Amino acid sequence: MKDLGKPINLNLKMNLAIVNALWYILVGENFELEDEKLQAIVAQFDQILRQESRPSFLDKLLMMIHPKLTKLFNSEWHSARKLFDDLIDLIKPRLDQHKAHRDPHQPRDFMDAFLAEIERTEDRQSSFYGKRGEESMIATMIDLFLAGAETTTSSLLWAILCLLHYPDVQERVQAELDQVVGPDRKVSLEDRPNLPFTNAVLMEAMRIATITPMALPHSVAQDMEFGGYRIPKNAIIFPNILQVHYDPNYWDNPDEFMPSRFYDKDSNTFKPNDHLIPFSVGRRLCLGQTLAEKEYFLFFCGLLQKFNFKFAPGKTLPGIGKDAGAKIGILRGVPLHEVVLSSRDRHHIRPNN
Ligand code: HEM
Repeated sequence: MKDLGKPINLNLKMNLAIVNALWYILVGENFELEDEKLQAIVAQFDQILRQESRPSFLDKLLMMIHPKLTKLFNSEWHSARKLFDDLIDLIKPRLDQHKAHRDPHQPRDFMDAFLAEIERTEDRQSSFYGKRGEESMIATMIDLFLAGAETTTSSLLWAILCLLHYPDVQERVQAELDQVVGPDRKVSLEDRPNLPFTNAVLMEAMRIATITPMALPHSVAQDMEFGGYRIPKNAIIFPNILQVHYDPNYWDNPDEFMPSRFYDKDSNTFKPNDHLIPFSVGRRLCLGQTLAEKEYFLFFCGLLQKFNFKFAPGKTLPGIGKDAGAKIGILRGVPLHEVVLSSRDRHHIRPNN
C-alpha cells in the first residue's frame, strides 16, 4: 500500500470501502475505488453531513415567509438536491442492465429481488406496483446508501481515533486477534464470540462516538402523556442518544474511553450494557443494524490485524469526549485528523520463519 508510513486522512478511503460493500449488496458489482464519479459523490455527501444543522438567520426568515423560498436561496438545499440527482444517475443505468439480464427465479442482489416483487405485484395501490415500484426502488436504494455509508464509516474512524489516544488498547486488541485469528486467515463473524476484549473496545468506541446523537426525528401520532408531560399530536420528538450515552448515572466518568465497561476480566467475557443504544430503540430503530454491526466488526478487525495506527507526528490529536469539538449535525462526524499506518506483517512470527 503506497500510503504506508505517511500521514493520511482515512475518511475518503474508508467511505469508499464501505460504499463498495453496500453497492455490492444493492446491485452486485464493485466500484473501482478510483471511480471519479463515486469519489465525488462520497466527498459531497460527507461535506453535507458535516455541516452543522443550524439554520442561519436568513434561512429562518425565508422559512417564515414561505418554505419554498428556502429551495431558491439555500445553498445546502441545492447541494443536497445535486447529490440526489447524481445518485439517480448512478442507479438508473444499473436498473436497465438488471431488467435486461435478470433471471426472475435467481435474484442476484437487492435490485433483482425488488424487480421480482414489482413483477409479482398486482395491487395498484401498492408501492411495488409498476412505474411507482421502480421509483420507490430508487428512493429505497438512495435511503440505504445515505443511511448506511457515512454512519458505518464514521463509527470505524471514531474507533480508530480512540485507539490513537490509547496505544495500549490497540496492542491488546492486536494481541487478542493474533491469538484467536492469527496473521494469515481472514477474520470471520464466527470469531466474534472469541474476541471479547475487541468487542468491548468496539462498543465503548460506539458510546464515545455516538454518531447519531439525536437519532431521527419522529412525530407523535396522537395526544399522549409521558413522564408527566402532555405531548400533543404531531409534535416532533428528537431522542437524545448523546445524553443517554454520557449520563453519569449509568456510566462512571462518561468522558473517558474505558473498554472495561464492556469487559469482565475475571471471566474474560464480553459484558453487554442495555444503556448503549447507538441504533436507537423501538419499532423504528435502525433498519441496517445487523449489517452495520457485521461491517463494523469485520472492517475493524481486518484493519487491526494488518496495520498499526499511529497519530501523525507534529499534529494535534482531536479529543474524544462529549465536548471534544465534534461537529453535531445529523451525524456527530469524527473530527478530521491524520494517521500513519504501518504494516504488521513483520511482527507476526510464523512457525517456519
Ligand atoms: C454504525 C452504523 C449505524 C448507526 C449507528 C445507525 C443508527 C441509526 C439510528 C440511530 C437511526 C434512527 C432510528 C430512530 O430514529 O429511531 C437509524 C435509522 C436508519 N438506518 Fe441506521 N445506522 C447505522 C448504519 C446503517 C446501515 C448500514 C443501514 C443500511 C444499509 C442503515 C439504514 C437505516 C435506515 C433505512 C433507517 C431509517 C429506519 C426507519 O425510519 O424506519 N443504517 N440508523
